[in-house]
Amino acid sequence: PFAVYNQLRASHPIRYDESRGCWDVFCYEDVHRILKDPATFSSVRKLAERETILTMDPPRHSQMRAIVNKAFTPKVVNDLGPHIKSITDELLDAVVNNGSMDIVHDLAVPLPVIVIAELLGVPAEDRHLFKEWSDILVKGPEVNTDEAFHRVMTEKTQAMKELNGYFATIVEQRRKEPKEDLISLLLAAEIDGQKLNEEELLGFCILLLAAGNETTTNLITNAVRVLTEDSALQSKLNGQPELVPSFIEEVLRYYPPIQAIGRVATQDVDIHGTRIQAGQQVVSWVASANRDEAKFPEPDQFNAERKPNAHLSFGFGTHFCLGAPLARLEGHIVIQRLLERLKDIRFVEDSELSTIQSPFVYGVKQFHVRFNK
Ligand code: HEM
Repeated sequence: PFAVYNQLRASHPIRYDESRGCWDVFCYEDVHRILKDPATFSSVRKLAERETILTMDPPRHSQMRAIVNKAFTPKVVNDLGPHIKSITDELLDAVVNNGSMDIVHDLAVPLPVIVIAELLGVPAEDRHLFKEWSDILVKGPEVNTDEAFHRVMTEKTQAMKELNGYFATIVEQRRKEPKEDLISLLLAAEIDGQKLNEEELLGFCILLLAAGNETTTNLITNAVRVLTEDSALQSKLNGQPELVPSFIEEVLRYYPPIQAIGRVATQDVDIHGTRIQAGQQVVSWVASANRDEAKFPEPDQFNAERKPNAHLSFGFGTHFCLGAPLARLEGHIVIQRLLERLKDIRFVEDSELSTIQSPFVYGVKQFHVRFNK
């Protein structure tokens, strides 16, 4: 899609799409401006069955976010490092002798699910349930018909019900007997005497699943995809592992797992010389902003050492991704272990490279590679 974004930035930096009933915004400066101004561009919209921080505005958003920030600290995330490494190694142990693997199925899907499950304190034996639920939550209709849409919604409602019941039991247990896990921390966290209520707590756990899994899966797969497109880069990163963090930032810029972020205008406002009216939907195309030549020199070049690299792939401002430190950590560890353990990772040319059918997600359904040990 990136060539199309480049054209659109030049020809229609902002446009109204009648069929979807929303504005599309493509330039970095405009996207940045929209994300930075929640008073004019609201996040409140009916996205899911329940309200979460993702669909709240300040001041309510700030209060809730402060409470969850208290539980989801850099220390909580960093302490997961050794664990993420051993999960990665276990997943690699299972396939390393085959000389080939599907990066999506064998590594990029299970890793984030296992990490979130452990973080929340969900028993390991329930992981498969977890994976099923989180897959259903991010699913879109297979075909664009009312019937298909209805089918997906029914499935989602059912999954939400089951997830709610599941988490309600765990929350109850942790209330009686706190453990060293995120749910116990969330139960204890408060700001100015205010705590999360049961509804909010369950909603937040489910948001972590929905927001954190598929995105991280795609970050990992997209990173491996870049490595297979440039074998010199594999040896370079292997010799200079200190470049892995800036490599991951560049993967995020170049192939952003979430391509666009939605808002609703709260008042009439001009963007790029065009009037947007109060109540209209605005879609900010991060994937285009990340390739804007006005912000990034040689934007279509992948540069593992790009600095500065102010991509917008985790959003910007008040809603900046809460899970960014965790996603980055997982990305760093996985790529480092892959490079340390596997040599000469190459894409299997005759395997299928079908992209995920969603306009907002950037990733592939499978990614088969061969490698040497
Ligand atoms: C918010 C992207 C991983 C939890 C966001 C937003 C983006 C994003 C673009 C902002 C949405 C907006 O402004 O409306 C990503 C990407 C990821 C990733 C690309 C992986 C590479 C994660 C993980 C978690 C997570 C691992 C949790 C464990 C959240 C939450 C929010 C959020 C809770 C809402 C924050 C708020 O509204 O204040 N993410 N995310 N994300 N993300 Fe992530």
